[in-house]
Amino acid sequence: MTYDDAIKALSSDALKFVKDDHIIGLGSGRAATSLVKSLSKFIKLKDYNIRGVPTSLQIKLIAEKAGIPLLEADQVEHIDVVFDGADQIDSQKYVIKGGGGALLRENILFSLAKKVIVMADKTKFVRNFTRTVPVEIHPLARNSVIKSIKKLGGNAQIRSLDRGYPFFTENGNIILDCDFGTIKNPKVLTQKIKQTVGVLESGIFLRKPDVIYKAKENGKFDII
Ligand code: A5P
Repeated sequence: MTYDDAIKALSSDALKFVKDDHIIGLGSGRAATSLVKSLSKFIKLKDYNIRGVPTSLQIKLIAEKAGIPLLEADQVEHIDVVFDGADQIDSQKYVIKGGGGALLRENILFSLAKKVIVMADKTKFVRNFTRTVPVEIHPLARNSVIKSIKKLGGNAQIRSLDRGYPFFTENGNIILDCDFGTIKNPKVLTQKIKQTVGVLESGIFLRKPDVIYKAKENGKFDII
């Protein structure tokens, strides 16, 4: 049994939050992919009329292939439930997102959601955040934002692909992966990051999930 088995199992369990006619936010990454595959089978079996709202082209392609009808975020007034993964979850239940670069669209969906469900394996749960915080910024603000991050005690690196090509988000922006060491007050730090001109989104989301699934290495999971 592995974490993947646990993610598969919890993806099926999480479908209990899905009702007929729901608008479902589809996060990005491996956990969200597993959920989309389970959701596709579930809605066919139940003959449910749900619509999915994707947070990235990555999940859009998976959802299209799985036959889930899709809408964009600007076509809906609310989302009944968002399912998404996370890069790290602290003891206050804040999450870091954006490892795949989809943070801006993910946070838009979180803000529209009646219920947010986050699914992650046990290794991502920490007392205080320790990993880098992805920050989506306008490319023309890169030098000023890097300076501001430094003033906040962080060290910002422009995310790049192989051979040094910068990574561009689906919104045409770039990402700074910002190392703040151990983060004791994520709320204050996020408020300060978001006040910086040129910052479009911070990977620390202030909307906490309503339900968190923790996948364990024995193939089982806990609900927090
Ligand atoms: C996408 O930008 C991220 O926020 C992902 O949701 C996050 O990296 C979790 O992905 P996995 O489920 O693949 O670990």
